[in-house]
Amino acid sequence: MSPRDRRIQYETAGLHREDLDESPIQQWHAWYVDAVEAELPEPNAMVVGTVDEYGLPDARIVLARGVDDEGITFFGNYESSKGQQLDGTPLASVVFPWLGLHRQVRARGSVEVLSRFESDAYFASRPRESQIGAWASPQSQEIEDRSVLEKNFADFSEQFSTGEVPRPPHWGGWLLVPEVFEFWQGRPNRLHDRFRYRLEDSTDSWIIDRLAP
Ligand SMILES: Cc1cc2nc3c(=O)[nH]c(=O)nc-3n(C[C@H](O)[C@H](O)[C@H](O)COP(=O)(O)O)c2cc1C
Repeated sequence: MSPRDRRIQYETAGLHREDLDESPIQQWHAWYVDAVEAELPEPNAMVVGTVDEYGLPDARIVLARGVDDEGITFFGNYESSKGQQLDGTPLASVVFPWLGLHRQVRARGSVEVLSRFESDAYFASRPRESQIGAWASPQSQEIEDRSVLEKNFADFSEQFSTGEVPRPPHWGGWLLVPEVFEFWQGRPNRLHDRFRYRLEDSTDSWIIDRLAP
């Protein structure tokens, strides 16, 4: 069936204002639990949108590694395209596409580089092969062939054959500090439920508004 002819009726119970947690972080966690229980693939995967030096948007999937009152944490290569874009414009938007539940969560805000202590701690928790992979891949750079990666992996495996693998200086985390969240629940006839949380000026309180779908 062509994309043009695909139609799904989103038969869900909907999202009601009285059921929303006053904190978007707690609301995210409630929906994350639903996504895990529904066995959605990679429920911590999110699309991260950034802009380049010309203002041209770019987006890719990245795994969220923490969602709490500080913000949303993710990790990667600081020299990658997203790393350079976040360096130039430290703003991002993220989308959790929980399609199996006819849901999406969006958030946007400013982005900070995590402290080296936080990046070290997370890097140390990763499997050894992923740690070596972080050394082996010059993320987002052009490479001649797959063999470049395999050779790098073999070379770094040898270099770090004993002891702990140190975190590469070009690899670490970011923290997105959301100013706006939006929870979207699909419903029949395209009359979906959308609720936006935005921070009340210079306070920590969130204002919740319903948006038209
Ligand atoms: C399911 C999934 C999870 C991913 N997780 C990460 C991640 O946590 N960190 C990361 O840097 N890239 C991750 N990637 C790869 C990115 O989508 C992207 O290819 C890479 O970060 C380079 O993007 P850039 O050139 O825009 O910097 C993931 C891709 C997929 C499909």
